Amino acid sequence: FYFSKNISSAINILIESTKKIASGDFSTRIELNNSELKELSDNMNYMATELENLENLRKDFITNVSHDLRSPLTSIKGFVTALQDGTIAYEDKDKYLQIILDETDRLSKLTDDIMLLTKMENNVSELNITSFELKTVIKKACSKFERAILDKNQNLSLELFDKEVYVCGDLNKIQRVITNILDNAIKFTPSGGNIKIETSIIDEKAYVKISDTGIGISKDDINHIWHRFHKADKSRGIDKKGTGLGLAIVHEIIRAHKENITVESEIGVGTSFTFSVELAEA
Ligand SMILES: Nc1ncnc2c1ncn2[C@@H]1O[C@H](COP(=O)(O)OP(=O)(O)OP(=O)(O)O)[C@@H](O)[C@H]1O
Ligand SMILES: [Mg+2]
Repeated sequence: FYFSKNISSAINILIESTKKIASGDFSTRIELNNSELKELSDNMNYMATELENLENLRKDFITNVSHDLRSPLTSIKGFVTALQDGTIAYEDKDKYLQIILDETDRLSKLTDDIMLLTKMENNVSELNITSFELKTVIKKACSKFERAILDKNQNLSLELFDKEVYVCGDLNKIQRVITNILDNAIKFTPSGGNIKIETSIIDEKAYVKISDTGIGISKDDINHIWHRFHKADKSRGIDKKGTGLGLAIVHEIIRAHKENITVESEIGVGTSFTFSVELAEA
């Protein structure tokens, strides 16, 4: 009798707690230390913690997106109003129209990035797998940055295969991985620094390594760089406009390909990212 009474009160506690969790109170935890149902309650506590973490991520995501959407919109609105009411002189208008255009580009990039990321995370975006030549894609990605590299007086060196190498994957998405990493390498490397892209083949896989002699990433930050919207504090001063989605996208693309990406970095020395791609059948 004592045994069943004990269980029934434990079950009541469990029922009450599940009601709370179901109503959205994810901070609920169940204390059933001496009960036969302890294992079940531990599992439920684990579930509640996971739900709480997810909910926090969702809230952070909305806060970040709202903030990043609002700041360019505020500045666009401000300049348009100033152009309309004559606060900005007619002869200065081109300069401000250019700012408005840049801000709209930023908004487009942000919304495109968020769409891509959410699609990939929900596995809605399917990979379009083909076989393609890796060096061609690397060179194409580099060509987008010719201007930026020239402007920063950086040196880009390519140490690529001396023959054609075909890999399997989604061409556009692999190119996106390269451009996102390269974009960071250029951004976080001071003028005059070096950026290098190397390729290799190890155990039936092709590897692309992109390294820079930039500011580096601290041990504290390195575990978070793949998270949406994470920007190292130090980098905030260098790049106020980046939103911190680039590497989250890289991570999702590599995950969707079931491949790997690793990062090595030392503050003040530089950073290198290495990812794998499947070789195509010869
Ligand atoms: N090559 C690098 N050298 C130093 N820090 C880096 C490098 N690559 C990434 N980081 C750090 O990781 C953070 C996240 O990078 P990520 O590409 O996701 O965002 P972002 O470049 O700030 O913004 P976005 O790519 O959305 O424009 C950066 O803000 C920076 O702090
Ligand atoms: Mg980036």
